[in-house]
Amino acid sequence: MILDLTVKLVENQQQLEDALFVRREVFVKEQGIPLPLEQDQYDAEAQHIVVYHQEAPIAAGRVRRIAEKVAKVDRVCVLPDFRRKQVGVKMMEVLEKFAVLHHSSHAIDTIKIHAQSHAVPFYEAQNYKITSPEFIDGGTAYRAMEKHFTL
Ligand SMILES: CC(C)(COP(=O)(O)OP(=O)(O)OC[C@H]1O[C@@H](n2cnc3c(N)ncnc32)[C@H](O)[C@@H]1OP(=O)(O)O)[C@@H](O)C(=O)NCCC(=O)NCCS
Repeated sequence: MILDLTVKLVENQQQLEDALFVRREVFVKEQGIPLPLEQDQYDAEAQHIVVYHQEAPIAAGRVRRIAEKVAKVDRVCVLPDFRRKQVGVKMMEVLEKFAVLHHSSHAIDTIKIHAQSHAVPFYEAQNYKITSPEFIDGGTAYRAMEKHFTL
């Protein structure tokens, strides 16, 4: 399949609904996470991202500031048919750039992630380092990871 990708920082309601659609497909339908846990209060404050293949949404994620110099990336997901095609990496690059540049007046120097344990190699490939032992949240195994940035 030849990919025809458009990566969008979400700026309208339709794009937000498209991002939430992908998250429901992956986290709720595929992984069995309850919808009230998947969509939470942080959606209102986060910067969301959505990726389209042609006109269809195929990947999503979000980033938000959680402390003076720290942002958190979460809800990163790619529909199964589009995995291992570098879509996740492209999305992370845009989320990182947004976090570091958008907040440059109060420089973000760290991005934290709670990585599902199976996704640790994906984040390690992008230079995130493990910072915690494995822990369980809502039946899913995670490790804390983080990456540091210098402006
Ligand atoms: C994790 C996820 C977002 C990765 O997205 P993706 O688009 O498939 O990842 P990419 O193609 O950009 O991967 C980049 C690199 O990360 C590593 N990687 C990605 N997925 C991997 C896997 N399942 N196992 C081992 N390494 C992996 C590889 O080094 C890969 O490069 P390569 O394909 O050239 O070897 C995707 O598998 C997904 O949506 N999973 C379900 C939801 C989820 O678990 N999200 C993470 C929540 S913390």
